[in-house]
Amino acid sequence: MSSIAIIGGTGLTSLANLEITGREIIQSSYGEPSGPLTRGKLQDKNILFLPRHGYAHTIPPHKVNYRANIDVLKEAGAENIIAVNAVGSISEAMPPGQLVIPDQIIDYTWSRKHTFYEEGLNEVVHIDFTQPYCESLREKLIQAANNASLELTAGATYGATQGPRLESIAEINKLEKDGCHLVGMTGMPEAALAREVELCYASISVVANMAAGRGDGEITMAEIEANLIGGIEKVKRLLESVIPLL
Ligand code: HPA
Repeated sequence: MSSIAIIGGTGLTSLANLEITGREIIQSSYGEPSGPLTRGKLQDKNILFLPRHGYAHTIPPHKVNYRANIDVLKEAGAENIIAVNAVGSISEAMPPGQLVIPDQIIDYTWSRKHTFYEEGLNEVVHIDFTQPYCESLREKLIQAANNASLELTAGATYGATQGPRLESIAEINKLEKDGCHLVGMTGMPEAALAREVELCYASISVVANMAAGRGDGEITMAEIEANLIGGIEKVKRLLESVIPLL
């Protein structure tokens, strides 16, 4: 039976209301995923949960094996993937704690294994990425937020940076000129890999901080963690609200 997969980001390494039915180590020919898959039930739907940074939050964004993660979720029967991503905000309209469902993405990452289509090919493959996120899933997330009276921004451009360091002010100025509203380190190549294996993928981005130069002074981990507490509570409410729509 098909399942809904949730890839947890910073601040989301478990789901409180998930009735866990098992933990499964699935092998991937692309190497080690971030951990065993948690299988469970939420409102009678089959859920797969995988924390992107590992259960103990020890894998930095540039070391995540995005290919293995997407591969094992596909193998386990996922059809929809809801990715949760902590982000910095470049826009005053999206303050810390805000949930955003991005609709576009710009990839500034480098040297990550970013495609399944590189070896043993019969022909070269170029997937379409005009709309990088799955529109039907985005719409359901937006509907679910409405149903739960959760405030959310329904559209933004996500700039994916390499990390693990945060950006300089000049880098954020450049991203803003490019049209980015959000900056995060985990959006790519995850979204493109999901598209390559024809999984419906959308992101709930949760604003952890104002990006460099957009808030007051330096960005601290304490500030990020404090903002994520409220943000992740909202993410959990949104997940509970979207499950019946899927
Ligand atoms: N930049 C990049 N990634 C992030 C940030 C940021 O400011 N905040 C949370 N993830």
